[in-house]
Amino acid sequence: MPEKSGPARAGTPSQGADLDRRMADYRGLREQIERSILPLATSVDGLSFEFQASLHDLSLRRGGYVVLERGGWSRLGQITDLGAASETVSGEGPGAAAASVLIRLARGGGMVLETDGAPFHDASVRPAEPDEVSAWFSRARPERAGLTIGDLLLAPGVAATLDAGGLDRHTFMCGQSGSGKTYSLGVLLEQVLAETSLRVVVLDPNSDYVGLSRIREGADPELAARYAEVPGDVAVWRDDAAAEHPLRLRFADLDREVQAAILGLDPVRDREEYAALTELLRLQEEGKPLFTHVDQLLETERPGARELGLRALNLGVLEWSIWNPEARSLMEELRSPTARCTVVDLGSLATMQEQRLVAEAVLSTLWESRLARKPCLVVIDEAHNICPANPGDPVTALSAQRAVQIAAEGRKYGLYLLTSTQRPSKVHENVVSQCDNLLLMRMNSQADLADLGRLLSFVPPGLMAGATSFRMGQALVAGKLLHQAAYVRMGQRVSEEGGADVPATWADPRPKS
Ligand SMILES: Nc1ncnc2c1ncn2[C@@H]1O[C@H](COP(=O)(O)OP(=O)(O)OP(=O)(O)O)[C@@H](O)[C@H]1O
Ligand SMILES: [Mg+2]
Repeated sequence: MPEKSGPARAGTPSQGADLDRRMADYRGLREQIERSILPLATSVDGLSFEFQASLHDLSLRRGGYVVLERGGWSRLGQITDLGAASETVSGEGPGAAAASVLIRLARGGGMVLETDGAPFHDASVRPAEPDEVSAWFSRARPERAGLTIGDLLLAPGVAATLDAGGLDRHTFMCGQSGSGKTYSLGVLLEQVLAETSLRVVVLDPNSDYVGLSRIREGADPELAARYAEVPGDVAVWRDDAAAEHPLRLRFADLDREVQAAILGLDPVRDREEYAALTELLRLQEEGKPLFTHVDQLLETERPGARELGLRALNLGVLEWSIWNPEARSLMEELRSPTARCTVVDLGSLATMQEQRLVAEAVLSTLWESRLARKPCLVVIDEAHNICPANPGDPVTALSAQRAVQIAAEGRKYGLYLLTSTQRPSKVHENVVSQCDNLLLMRMNSQADLADLGRLLSFVPPGLMAGATSFRMGQALVAGKLLHQAAYVRMGQRVSEEGGADVPATWADPRPKS
């Protein structure tokens, strides 16, 4: 019978066995050298450090905290970069033969958190214990309200407490769909409402924040007690005539540019209608209104006015439920607030046009009221629809312009933006680039991360790169909100979550018959 042949191999069986033995020796020598690599760090400026460590018992993590020690000296540090590297070294093989060995090791860098600015060389590196991290964060925390939004991801049990004062800068939140932005933004808003006296206005496109006025069943009792007073301070404005705060506007209250934009009017091309609109509004301002309802336009004999009415009718503008000159308008509420937190439930509006208009009216009214210098956090969820890089219609172009204006100049009047989106590149660049705080959740797109890195240079690039492996509810927080950028695991909501995902019960296994 013919012998079964194994895989083809060059040379004789004894040459093959010799090669196997030499390979095993090489691997043994390589492992011995790799295991002997000590975790050691060097800093030439006392602020940042570089280190090397063995890959065989690597306990260091990107974003994790370490203690750097040498003699009686020790410092807390944070790893911001970590990767595998190769190096060729000479070693002594069996029989003391000299060998050139390609080894693999971990190399990285980080920030010295407690620093006296003194450089150091060959300090040993070990993972910090959670109480060492906690002690540093408590010492570094300023004497201002703290917003506890969860735990430090890489120091379990250590609270992630943001400096509320950091909200006096604009904040950018981003992450892909389902990464937990809306949920986490809710956690942050609950803390802002419970722990500070900052006024909050939320543009809520998916009715996600309408539950801020209700404490969730089963909420953590301690958090619920801190939140107990808040629900009375939250007013939800929704498109429902029977609601406590029906979402209504007055056409005459809107800026002329917005009025023209919703009617698709061009001052040159549509001269007659534009002039009619100007005249009608002037009479209205003088207290001699020709009509109290927009549809009365259709009956007037004034040149251009009937055409204007027809235009509004054809565009469906007359059917919008937001018009009601008798009801208290949302713009009045924004000018003279009766509640500390105004949730504008854009998701309750029937048409996209109404949503765009209300968003624009809110930003414009807040901007107009800036001289009152009343600090206000302006929250824009799904910001790519309200201040997009490339607005698709004239009303959105105006809301983007307003958001850019607030981003550039609002801060000195106390208008602080908190914008959230899935795609940073779809939000107007002049909004993103003005942000000094980042809340970054899972983000797969390298292109989006590169864009963010370019616009927000205060974020350590190595930490930002870690966002590709975040799970739901994990985030990188960087900027003025936190003394040192950190990975955070977001905590649980206290108030009711408006728009949780549809449960995936359709994927439950079918019972066997
Ligand atoms: N920290 C968390 N704990 C428990 N559930 C969470 C947490 N974060 C998010 N979820 C749940 O995950 C789902 C998706 O979260 P969320 O709606 O916040 O994502 P998103 O990033 O806003 O997505 P999109 O961009 O599509 O709006 C929701 O059902 C929410 O309840
Ligand atoms: Mg969301």
